[in-house]
Amino acid sequence: MQSPYSCTLECQLTMQNKYPIGILGATGMVGQRFIQLLENHPWFEVAWLAASDRSSGKPYGEAAKWRLDTPLPDRIARMTVEPADPAGAPKIIFAALDADIAREMEPHFAAAGCAVISNSSAYRMAANVPLVIPEINAEHLHLIEEQPSRAESGGYMVTNPNCSTIGLVMALKPLEERFGIEQIFVTTMQAVSGAGYPGVPSMDILGNVVPYIKSEEEKMEAETLKLLGRLDGHAVTPLAARISAHCNRVAVEDGHTESVSIKLGNKLGRAVTRDDILSAWAEFTPLKLMHLPMAPEQPIEFAPQDDRPQPRLDRNRGRGMAVTVGRLRPCGLLDWKFTVLSHNTIRGAAGAAILNAELLRSLGKLDPAAPPDRSGSLQRKKDIELGDAIATGVTSLLG
Ligand SMILES: NC(=O)c1ccc[n+]([C@@H]2O[C@H](COP(=O)([O-])OP(=O)(O)OC[C@H]3O[C@@H](n4cnc5c(N)ncnc54)[C@H](OP(=O)(O)O)[C@@H]3O)[C@@H](O)[C@H]2O)c1
Repeated sequence: MQSPYSCTLECQLTMQNKYPIGILGATGMVGQRFIQLLENHPWFEVAWLAASDRSSGKPYGEAAKWRLDTPLPDRIARMTVEPADPAGAPKIIFAALDADIAREMEPHFAAAGCAVISNSSAYRMAANVPLVIPEINAEHLHLIEEQPSRAESGGYMVTNPNCSTIGLVMALKPLEERFGIEQIFVTTMQAVSGAGYPGVPSMDILGNVVPYIKSEEEKMEAETLKLLGRLDGHAVTPLAARISAHCNRVAVEDGHTESVSIKLGNKLGRAVTRDDILSAWAEFTPLKLMHLPMAPEQPIEFAPQDDRPQPRLDRNRGRGMAVTVGRLRPCGLLDWKFTVLSHNTIRGAAGAAILNAELLRSLGKLDPAAPPDRSGSLQRKKDIELGDAIATGVTSLLG
């Protein structure tokens, strides 16, 4: 199988040793994506797999019901699933646990000195936990330094957003930067894989639409404003925009589609045109010079056809990491409306967490055993500069 990474041969050869990583919740939908995406990763190697008591002690190939369309790697199939305990775990943990379990378990791993890079909603809105999409708000990673475990053991928690939030925010960020955003109205059509495995019973979803996903609308609304918010001192001030989300489950396997209407601000000092919006999306390549293996070359792709994007045809753009926008047109209620599509278990989950880990490594924050310089405002200033550097595509500050 061809390596899915954009990393050059040179960047692979300069890596003397890969970072050993662990996956918590390795047998689930997102855990399986981690295994698939980390196979042949130039910087990270899967060294530890953990799940519930139902799975621990068994070979992974027996414990997990492999649901992906690439073969389960032999080496992984033979690995024993370990109990979910930090003793003996590597210091970098990708976590794919249900929120209730994550709430209890992730802080134990952070306290034990692990960098916990989480998919769960448990700590996304905690004031001292960064909720990060590398293209959007890298500077929020400074919040790691506000976590007590960082000073005590070097460990910390970082989260990525909900799978429906991530596509929306990717499409909104370049528009917020150039024009400002005052109101957001979004309706989602979310794939069944977003509910984990076995997820929604087939009798409930086939030939049907379910207009309710527990807590999803609240998560989408709060996370969007935090991601687009400003790091002020020790916390994030959310974007001062109004937002309303409707979330629906539809009979699609992978790929969340969203219909979005927005009212723009007046940063430009004149009416925003269709070309202004298309340029903002096309020119949004904030990670371009960082050479992160998981980062897509073009994070936002515009599909000009009248009937695109569609999940089956567009979800794998940019190896599942690009967000596709289309159907841009004036809105009769707000200013503009369009459609967004993103792959929910790649860009919306495992791929998002791997990209966060790659960013952390590039910023020198992926060695929790060595707590950082804790000179307060100096460290914060440096983190904000790093975020700005990414936003402007300047990497000289990355050192
Ligand atoms: N699916 C998506 O598109 C998506 C997108 C973004 C975020 N997320 C979030 O990612 C997390 C995982 O989602 P998922 O879809 O992968 O769920 P899932 O398929 O239900 O998998 C859950 C995993 O957690 C493990 N687990 C359950 N109880 C445990 C315990 N007490 N101790 C240790 N491990 C335990 C399970 O192990 P066993 O197999 O042993 O039970 C399994 O590996 C959730 O928080 C979800 O909201 C999912």
